[in-house]
Parts: sequence; C-alpha cells; structure tokens
Amino acid sequence: MMMPQAGPAGQAAAVGSRAEALIGWALRDVAPHLACFNPDCRRRFRLDQVVYSCADCGSLLEVANDFEGTDPECFLLEWKARRRSLRTIDVSGVWRFREMLPFVRDPARIVSLPEGNTPLFDAPRAASYAGLDGLSFKHQGYNPTGSFKDNGMTAGVTQAVSLGMRRVACVSTGNTSASMAAYAAAAGMQAVIFLPAGKIAYGKLAQALEYGALTIQVEANFDEILALVRKLADEVGIYLLNSINPFRIEGQKSIVIEMLEQRDWRVPDWVVLPGGNLGNISALGKGLRELRQVGLIRDLPRIAVVQAAGSAPFAAQFRDGGELRPVIGPETLATAIRIGNPVSWRKAGSEISAASGLVDAVSEQEIADAKAVIGRCGFGCEPASAATLAGIRKLVRRGSIAADADVVGVLTGHLLKDPDYVYRYHSGELQAPSGEPVHPTLGNPPVTVPNDRSRIAEMLRRSEG
Ligand code: F0G
Repeated sequence: MMMPQAGPAGQAAAVGSRAEALIGWALRDVAPHLACFNPDCRRRFRLDQVVYSCADCGSLLEVANDFEGTDPECFLLEWKARRRSLRTIDVSGVWRFREMLPFVRDPARIVSLPEGNTPLFDAPRAASYAGLDGLSFKHQGYNPTGSFKDNGMTAGVTQAVSLGMRRVACVSTGNTSASMAAYAAAAGMQAVIFLPAGKIAYGKLAQALEYGALTIQVEANFDEILALVRKLADEVGIYLLNSINPFRIEGQKSIVIEMLEQRDWRVPDWVVLPGGNLGNISALGKGLRELRQVGLIRDLPRIAVVQAAGSAPFAAQFRDGGELRPVIGPETLATAIRIGNPVSWRKAGSEISAASGLVDAVSEQEIADAKAVIGRCGFGCEPASAATLAGIRKLVRRGSIAADADVVGVLTGHLLKDPDYVYRYHSGELQAPSGEPVHPTLGNPPVTVPNDRSRIAEMLRRSEG
C-alpha cells in the first residue's frame, strides 16, 4: 500500500501500519487553517480565531485542507474498519470519515448524538413522477433532530467546545435552531436562537423549546435578523453557528461522502438539492472537490440547486449574471428556504461553476404536489425538501436532465417538521402567500364518520382499492 506524504518535500513517511500512516498524514506541515474564500485574497487565519469573515475583504472564510498525496485506499480501509466499532465517533456518519475533517485534533472532545447514517432510498414512484427511469433520495431527515443541519452542527459545536465557548447562537428558519439547541444541550452550553416571529414551523419551534434554548422571536425576516445578529455576536461575545461558520460547512461535507460510499463511489450524473442561505450547496461542492483531491472519485457530478419562486435570488442571479440582487420580502410556504439575501451566494456560485451546475425555481403548487408524491413513497419530507423533486421534474421536462440520467435528490428535512402544512394540503386548505389556493392534487383528507358500524363497514367496502 502507498504511504501518505509526510512533509513539504513530499517524501513518503516511513511508517509501518495503517494507523501510523494516518497519524503521519494528520501531522503533516500543511495543517488545516482558516482562509478567506475570495481567490484574490486568501488571507489566512488560525483555526482558534473566532472569525467568520475576512478582515481585509469581507468575504466568508473556509477551512483550508490539503489532501494532496493522500492514499485513498488508506482512508477506505479505516472507514470500513470503523463499521465494526461501537464507539460513538466511529458510529457517527460524520466522524467515521474524520480524516476528511482534519481540523479536529482531539477526538475525545467531539460532540455527537450520533448523526448521519441516513438512508439512500430508491424511489420509483417519484422517478416516474419526474419522468426519470430511476431516482434515489439521500434522506437527511433521518438525522437525530430530523434535518441535514445535524451533520454540520456536530462539527460546529465541537469547534465551540475546543474554543472554550459557553454560549452559542444562531438565526434560523427553524432547523438550524432545533439542531443547535440539541447539540448545545448535549455539550452543556447555553443556546440562544433568533427566529422570524410567527414564520417557523411548529415542529422546529417545539424542538428548540424542549432542548432548553433561549428562544427569541424577532419581528423581522431571516435576512434582517441575520444582519442584526452578526453585529450583536461581536458586541456580546457569542459564538455564531449559522452556515457562515466554516466548521459547520466541514461537517455538512459528510452528506456527499456518505452518499458516495453508499453508492460504492459511483458518481451520479446529477445531485439535486434545495437552496436557501446556500450553505449546503457550498458544503456539498467542497466535499466533492476534496473527495476528488483524495482520489476517491475522478469526476464531479453536476449539481442543481432549486429555490422556491418567491424566494429565488440565486436562481435570478444564475439566469441574469452579475451580482446577486436580494429579494426584499421573500415569501414561500416552504418556510425553511424563505430567504432573500443568501450569505453564501459567492461560495455557492463557485461550486455551481465547478460542477457545471444549474439553479432554478419552482412554484408553491409544484412544491406541494412533489411533497405529496414523496409521502406516497413511504417516507415523506418537509416542504423545502420537496423543492428537490419539483426541480428535478422541471429540469427533466425542459431537457436539462436526461430521462436515463443517474440522479440523487437530497431531502433535507423530516415530514413531521411541519405537520400543519401537511394537514392543510390534504384537506384543501393550503393557500400560497399570494392568497391563491394550492390545489390538493394528491389530497388525502381525513374522513369523519358517525359512530355507526354498518355505515363504517359500507364505507370500507366502497373504498377498497
Ligand atoms: N432545506 C431545509 C429543510 C432547511 O432547513 C434549509 C435551511 C434548506 C433546505 C436550505 O439550506 O440554507 O444551506 O441553502 N435552513 C436554514 C435554517 C436556513 O435556519 O434552518 P441552505
């Protein structure tokens, strides 16, 4: 087996075992550090600095890793071996791949619930709805708090612990706050969450309350509150765990790592996901590029990001070019992605270019129907996640995705996050923010019956399918 490089000169390390090889690799001189994402700047920061954007140019930061010269076989053997372990960090679908997150120096301080290990479902019913021969879904709703945020939050809170933080904060459309509240509770920290008043789904609010977070509802939208809290964080010294936090992005890379492992490293033609603040596309793109650098994949899949039409500044920027023009007063019933000024749009744009990607938007009706189809597959998802299937269908109809393409859709949140939406759709009461009714195309309203055995028996005979 080839050994990983040991230092700047690139000479092979004289190590005897796989474990020693990995240790040698982790201790190389090219240690992970923070770097400005702007390719014209690239200013460096230490990993232990509490900083979210570049002091010189204002761009977001990333954790810069160097995987040059690593031996993919070495990683694969280690990851496979951990499947037999019962240690939480080996069971976790994030930390099992910890060589891809080398910023963590002390695995004993990892905060894990444990997350990841989410299923990759075959979804023939959704495939035929979209006009595809086949389709699978990587369902991130099967995480401990029911969304993909857990993959990132375990990394963000682990970094907060190693920085000695006592208090963490985030602004959220719901899922980030639920996830942060859970991980902060597990780490014994105080969680402070800021939410757009009255605009988050009850399932998510309930989680934050139950996990003990200080929950502050602000009468403003997500974009306005994020701008406010970024200033407040410096003022009162709280550690921010929104997706501007580069360590969260590191954790979220594991979504594609695990997905490719489940596919035996066969790269799909397309990966499709919903976009709001655009942290997840930034993470998935980085993860894929780093897997290519390690040598675990040769090519990148194409990536499509799907937004809700009333909150689609990134789709407009992709179509029109130039700078992103924020949508003032974004609207959608998919409250998770009700965002008009996504902070990570430059990172996201660069990942879309690297992956020859696409960005598009879908209507409230398209999201609602796609969501009901995903429900009929037997797993379901929350509204924002259904933008994935609605987008795939639109791109297939338009000819951008071929009917025989190998497509993986990412479902970001669990069905039970927003039960109110589900009930309204199926009972024909759902209304778009414009006031227009959303038609219950696949409506399945509950039936109320009198307490009469023969009438119930008659109804059951008639409804036999
Ligand atoms: N899907 C769900 C279920 C989400 O909760 C989010 C974002 C997204 C998609 C979009 O991901 O922002 O990385 O592009 N939710 C954030 C929150 C904003 O506060 O929970 P993104």
